[in-house]
Amino acid sequence: PRVYVLNGPNLGRLGTRQVDVYGLTSYADLVASCQAVGRECGLDVEVRQTDAESEMLGWLHAAADEGAAVVLNPAAWSHYSYAVRDACAMLRGPLVEVHISNIHTREEFRHHSVVSAVATGVICGLGVDGYRLALIHLAQRLSEEPA
Ligand code: DQA
Repeated sequence: PRVYVLNGPNLGRLGTRQVDVYGLTSYADLVASCQAVGRECGLDVEVRQTDAESEMLGWLHAAADEGAAVVLNPAAWSHYSYAVRDACAMLRGPLVEVHISNIHTREEFRHHSVVSAVATGVICGLGVDGYRLALIHLAQRLSEEPA
């Protein structure tokens, strides 16, 4: 099964961006690790990142049309984009929202995600390991309930 791993704004700068918060793993390393987990779990994993909201909306629409599963780190859009949330609400496959940092221990404006209410589940605060855990979960889930 196909799983889209979609990353929002500034996540392309992983590895150099606020390393105390987001860690030393680069975005390229994250892509490679998601692809490796996909191979191990028998998932067709497609990893993307964009700083443009319209591009993200297009990817979510395509995932909705395909009925594909999505792992989404909406980054800053989590906290205010009803457009991203509405696109997520159209998904027919499972949606795992991932945050590298624990948004609940950070600034007040990060405590709420407008996406979470339409997500199947949320992983936050486990670093980039959250992506691996999300993919392992989806592999199991999709094998139990084929789309
Ligand atoms: C983030 C948390 C958001 O608050 C922030 O805007 C990000 C990354 C995370 O992965 O921890 O860009 O989603």
